[in-house]
Amino acid sequence: MRTPLVAGNWKMNGTQASVAELMQGITQGAGNIDGADVLVCPSFVFLSQVRTVTDGTSVALGAQDLYAEEGGAFTGEISGSMLADAGCEYVIVGHSERRALTGDSDSLVAAKFSAAQKVGLTPILCVGESLEERKSDTTLAVIGRQFSTVADAVGIEAFRNAVVAYEPVWAIGTGETATPDQAQEVHSALRGMAAKRSAKIAADLRLLYGGSVKAANAADLFSMADIDGGLIGGASLDTNEFLSICEAATG
Ligand code: PGA
Repeated sequence: MRTPLVAGNWKMNGTQASVAELMQGITQGAGNIDGADVLVCPSFVFLSQVRTVTDGTSVALGAQDLYAEEGGAFTGEISGSMLADAGCEYVIVGHSERRALTGDSDSLVAAKFSAAQKVGLTPILCVGESLEERKSDTTLAVIGRQFSTVADAVGIEAFRNAVVAYEPVWAIGTGETATPDQAQEVHSALRGMAAKRSAKIAADLRLLYGGSVKAANAADLFSMADIDGGLIGGASLDTNEFLSICEAATG
């Protein structure tokens, strides 16, 4: 059985004051969420602050990215071991904003995935097609390339301790959500790609949907057979919205 996961990706948002308020609400509400895992991924500078609140609660802590090297002269970068030391259990890799804005290639994403696992972090690998790619009917080819580059590099066994998030680029932050059927089609294809390598690992692999998930559409998306929760951007900054989405994942 796959336990659903709802992960808040706060992106480059927040102040110490807003984070304190948000976390107070989330940790209180998450105590009543039974049957879904809850994760928050703040900006690096808030990790320690958030950890003091999540420690001893059911809310897990994650980061939004890491550098692929273990340490050394890499000014401005943050390693997986620093994230593990800061209390993170998860880290997002290959988010489309990083692929587009900071040039994270498929092979760099694979290196980050591997670096995360080396220090015991669970990577959340993001894949997703652009609007042009969807229009030109290359969605599954793009997803296939993004997934296979990582699976070829790390081996399917590595997906025992990983999560994959399907996030169509055209649905991120746009208010436009993939329909449950559109999302399910890609999720089912993704699970099929993993199953070609290992049926057992594919059956246990958590596949999240991301892209304008809100309280109003979460239950319909999460009711689909291969959608095991969500990666939530904008709506994760609102305590009530986020908690409603977590509740929807409990089925
Ligand atoms: P959104 O972002 O929910 O604001 O669309 C999702 C994401 O980028 O992870």
